[in-house]
Amino acid sequence: MDINTIHRSAKARFRGACRVCPVCNGTICAGEVPGMGGLGTGAAFRHNIQALAECRLNLRTVHSVKKPDLACRILGLDLALPVIGAAIGGIALNMNGAMAEAEYTAAIISGCRQAGTIGMTGDGPVPVVFDAGLDAIGREDGWGIPVIKPRDTDKIVELAKQAAAAGAPAFGMDIDAAALVNMTNAGQPVGPKTIQELAYIKNHTPIPFIVKGIMTPDDAEACWQAGVDAIVVSNHGGRALDHTPGTAEVLPYVAEAVKGKMTVLVDGGIRSGTDVLKMLALGADAVLLGRPLAIAAVGGGADGVAFVLNKYKAELSAAMILTGTAGLSDVPVEILW
Ligand SMILES: Cc1cc2nc3c(=O)[nH]c(=O)nc-3n(C[C@H](O)[C@H](O)[C@H](O)COP(=O)(O)O)c2cc1C
Repeated sequence: MDINTIHRSAKARFRGACRVCPVCNGTICAGEVPGMGGLGTGAAFRHNIQALAECRLNLRTVHSVKKPDLACRILGLDLALPVIGAAIGGIALNMNGAMAEAEYTAAIISGCRQAGTIGMTGDGPVPVVFDAGLDAIGREDGWGIPVIKPRDTDKIVELAKQAAAAGAPAFGMDIDAAALVNMTNAGQPVGPKTIQELAYIKNHTPIPFIVKGIMTPDDAEACWQAGVDAIVVSNHGGRALDHTPGTAEVLPYVAEAVKGKMTVLVDGGIRSGTDVLKMLALGADAVLLGRPLAIAAVGGGADGVAFVLNKYKAELSAAMILTGTAGLSDVPVEILW
């Protein structure tokens, strides 16, 4: 298996729904939602890419870091690398039938496990999206994290309990889907949540609670006050609100507010192991990878997902050696130029 074969196969299966560009940067697919693009002008997606591109690393080689340690512990889970598979729901519905939902979620969940990490699954207006994710997680002994839309709080509690029963070690809620019309149109209203509602969800669910889609220090602080276990700094890959900044731009401010008090994850525009290291230096404990793994799953199934994660692992290891970074528990900001 190699990356070109995975990409060729994905391109054929997507039949134009994703062009599988040499660099996945949101330019050609701007406005393609449904599809793989960013919403509206596509600016928020592109800002994710640009923000990381503008962040540079100091090349340092006079030191003793010959074998960096890539292992990390996130929400009590031991991972071989600080890269988690992001939730991507509705592949079957939105991508020219590139892959059935069950086949897709199984590829993500199994591929992540194969590479020594964990994957997330999504939610959508039809039950098959959430259910396929939970099935895939159940089949991998509970090794996966379902992410629930910001539905009615009691519905979230009900779905989170199902996740716990399937063995999931945590569940998420993508709060940035608060204005998703296709959910509301399907009679499943979504909306923003108050601190009290977040606390209610936290207090009525038995596993750690991750809130995904936080872009300001104030919202991060509110999550912490509500007792949330982890946040994902994310703009939903540029698919929630046009013209947000890139996640790498806001991450340092969010991390300053809550780092050390709760787990800080980030996603958006990460396209290499080098980008992973940048995000950790900016304050993240680990990252989520979206489109690159979706393309890998469609092009190469679980093996494709594991292949791409191992590629990121090798790139991260090289970047750690070349910046003198021995481990991941507290990557110093000084590695950035
Ligand atoms: C087609 C598509 C579907 C998505 N579906 C979901 C979803 O169901 N739940 C969720 O939390 N995030 C969803 N996301 C957002 C991703 O989890 C993630 O935040 C984003 O893709 C990260 O940016 P990246 O693709 O540049 O890595 C989706 C993203 C895409 C592109």
